[in-house]
Amino acid sequence: MIIAIDGPAASGKGTLAKRIAAHYGLRHLDTGALYRAVARDTLAHGGDLTDASAAATVAARLDVATLGDPALRTPGLGEAASVVARHADVRAVLLEYQRNFARGEPGAVIDGRDIGTVICPDADVKLFITAAPEERAHRRFLELVQNGTKIKESEVLADIRARDERDRTRGASPLRQAEDAALLDTTNLDIDAAFRAAIDLIEAAMGQAGRAG
Ligand code: CDP
Repeated sequence: MIIAIDGPAASGKGTLAKRIAAHYGLRHLDTGALYRAVARDTLAHGGDLTDASAAATVAARLDVATLGDPALRTPGLGEAASVVARHADVRAVLLEYQRNFARGEPGAVIDGRDIGTVICPDADVKLFITAAPEERAHRRFLELVQNGTKIKESEVLADIRARDERDRTRGASPLRQAEDAALLDTTNLDIDAAFRAAIDLIEAAMGQAGRAG
């Protein structure tokens, strides 16, 4: 079983994806970490984030063992990730790893921006998770403060808005809801309520697929 979860910055898709994977005994891949790691490695080599071929070379050499590095979660790397993520060459290099991960047994929950549209267009279930920008900024702000980051909530909101704009308007695999994805707006839901709503949508989608097949 493959569950594709997409959505804008800080929509809660990562937290939901982890819980959904644990619930169904599936593996989980946070594809944002791939782009954040490419940005980290490009910067570490003194490279230019806007240079597509330099970033693609870095992507080809990416060590996936480093994807769990908590340093990837800094706001600066989120911003930098959205710059390298615009390059079609970078996306092409990362595509195979993501598809191979999806194909592995016993199945996977994969979250990102283009999972339902490009990486796994045949996923069994597709969810598009969203929430009002102010609510997303508030949640991300609390998360960052808890991790000891000094930042203003207004800066987090500005970062989220800039990133959403960049992700939605780029030519290569822009952020958008797949036509067959179920929409989940978590603006007024806490994490437990969002999880229950996601499970209901997944069960409904699986039930429909069962009836169709
Ligand atoms: O956790 P958050 O929503 O803040 O961001 P993320 O999922 O870690 O993604 C960081 C950036 O990577 C995004 O703003 C996108 O530009 C890019 N990304 C992408 O282009 N495609 C994906 N499948 C995942 C992330």
